[in-house]
Amino acid sequence: MSAYPKAVADGWHPIATLAELKRRPLARMLMDKPLVVFRTANGPAVLLDRCPHRNMALSLGAVRDGAIECPYHGWRFDGAGRCTLTPGADAPARHEASALPVQVAAGLIWTTLAASPRAAPALPHPLEETKFDTFLWPVRPSRARLLDAIENLLDPAHPHFLHAGIVRSRQVRKPVDATVRVRADFAEAIYVENTRPAALMPRMLEGLRGRSIGRFFPPTIGQVAFEGANRLRLAITVFFTPETQDRVRPFAHFATPAGAAPAFIKEGLLRAFHIPVLAQDRAALRRQAESIAAYGPARYALGPLDLLFPAIQALMHGEAVQDSERCVRLHL
Ligand code: FES
Ligand SMILES: [Fe+2]
Repeated sequence: MSAYPKAVADGWHPIATLAELKRRPLARMLMDKPLVVFRTANGPAVLLDRCPHRNMALSLGAVRDGAIECPYHGWRFDGAGRCTLTPGADAPARHEASALPVQVAAGLIWTTLAASPRAAPALPHPLEETKFDTFLWPVRPSRARLLDAIENLLDPAHPHFLHAGIVRSRQVRKPVDATVRVRADFAEAIYVENTRPAALMPRMLEGLRGRSIGRFFPPTIGQVAFEGANRLRLAITVFFTPETQDRVRPFAHFATPAGAAPAFIKEGLLRAFHIPVLAQDRAALRRQAESIAAYGPARYALGPLDLLFPAIQALMHGEAVQDSERCVRLHL
């Protein structure tokens, strides 16, 4: 039995961006399984990173004629895992490397370890719309548990401290009415802010903020969205790929309405602001994972601002949840 929640174990996960995959193969990890990604004439292919001959890592080899060449004895395998060449023999060996299903969506290369995979990965709004300027940011893997990484993105209470001055202000808080909506396959928290943010990043990028929203699309996608007056200003959708029990590789997709400013300027600003934020989050997540490793099973105290955490936890683990909606007054 998989140590991962069933929905995660059976799900589709991005393992690389299309842009990352150049001539060399990429070594990736998905739920403790080393994988190799490489380019073929039919698009990206994903194999278990294990040569059927002597178990060498195929990712250490090279891509030749759309096949991956094992660095040990030079056997080549195509995208379907078929051996196409066995050097020194007249015919290729009749052994196969294990190929995984592949889909390309939103600039990402997706695969699944499921025995009978679902049809397609689910993509939340606004990933498939054209009226947004978008860019993808493949983030370095972090030492972090999947649940903690997802919650970190959607948690409204830590930025005042961990990202003080950049994302939220430590000194200034304003009353905010929040609505928390939980459905069988979705959870969101909508914070009605109607204020000019006090911290540097939103001040420069947004102006007056109407609402901010945190959304969870089970089992592994989180999204934060910031709106001006009824208009989306910025949506950050993050796909969290579990590499191991305590390492996560996030892929962040940024979307801003087209037209306001040149896309490359917005991308430059968003990246510049998020580099320190990301470093702060990574450090906190690492310390969290270390504490959990030292003290045994994770235990979480639920605070009054932890609006989405119970839903994230339940939905990620495939537990049945009641449809619910509630309003809460808090100060952000
Ligand atoms: S181990 Fe791969 S060709 Fe021998
Ligand atoms: Fe954060």
